Amino acid sequence: MKKINRLNLKSKKILLRVDFNVPLEGGKILDDYRIKVEIPVIKKLIKKKAKIILISHLGRPKGEFKEEFSLRPVKKVLEKYLRKKIIGPIELEKVKEEINKMKEGEVLLLENIRFYKGEIEGDENFAKNLASLGEVFINDAFSVCHRNQASVTKITKYLPSFAGPNLVSEVKTLSKILKKPKRPLVVIIGGKKVEDKAKVVENFTKYADWVLVGNLVANEIKEGRIKVKNIEKVIFPLEDKDALDIDPKTIEIFKEKIKNAKTLFWAGPLGKIEDEKYQKGTLEIAKEIGRLKRKLFSVVGGGDTIEFLNKFSLLKKFDFVSTGGGAMLEFLAGKRMPGLEALKYDGN
Ligand code: 3PG
Repeated sequence: MKKINRLNLKSKKILLRVDFNVPLEGGKILDDYRIKVEIPVIKKLIKKKAKIILISHLGRPKGEFKEEFSLRPVKKVLEKYLRKKIIGPIELEKVKEEINKMKEGEVLLLENIRFYKGEIEGDENFAKNLASLGEVFINDAFSVCHRNQASVTKITKYLPSFAGPNLVSEVKTLSKILKKPKRPLVVIIGGKKVEDKAKVVENFTKYADWVLVGNLVANEIKEGRIKVKNIEKVIFPLEDKDALDIDPKTIEIFKEKIKNAKTLFWAGPLGKIEDEKYQKGTLEIAKEIGRLKRKLFSVVGGGDTIEFLNKFSLLKKFDFVSTGGGAMLEFLAGKRMPGLEALKYDGN
């Protein structure tokens, strides 16, 4: 697959799929990691004098406009880092005329793409219309490549399509880790989006040495809603019926497994960390991983986990940070990634 840095993009309308699905509270962005990583890519396209149209989702608004899912707060952060005004966020219905007015080096932010059912349902016509807005499609959103949605997969049929630099680097690094992980390999899975995550636990039991589960994911399996065959490899919290936080004994058991590990993957907090009372388990585990920095190769991903680790200045203790939570887990669990398949991209 061709790399974008070899392309002549001058004056070209580029549809850049990004993932600005950042944690928000009352319209305030709690962590802008996913925006920050995209800044060098956007700057490069500005330098190449392209016309850059950013496509992103935020949350799960289920195909209709909802103010709390608007990308307006994201625009402010983009302007701060790019040190320039950007156009938007503009809804799809009105965007064509704005695009026609764009000058070289300008950036336009499309309003949340999940305000449209066609996106979520992966509708062909929707994808075709979306594609008609640009001349080249670049997907730089590894973190949404596990979704078969119009702006991730279907759009590639209608435009010359490329993998963006962040996507390339994430797939390369994660593939390398996946090929020959040093053992013991420990995987920690917690957080929200329970169903997706509980489903990958089974995949991990096939090749990881231990899978430590917490939070709602643990309950999903314990209560039999998701079946896991090699259950003996899964370690559950001893006492956490309400999925609030792992208990002190479980913290010790988890630490013991981590201490002996050589490779570790982590996505999803181990408690209801929005509430300070329930941060202890996640924090203790994060600190333990930090302490083992030289002995352990650690990979972490996911919006909430990154936000939490950043808040306690622990993110830098990890060897690799993936923008993906669910996507990272599915990739590492060896599942199909429709977004990568659509780009015919396998890491090479
Ligand atoms: C994520 O936060 O993992 C990605 O942005 C995908 O979001 P989704 O789980 O709502 O599809």
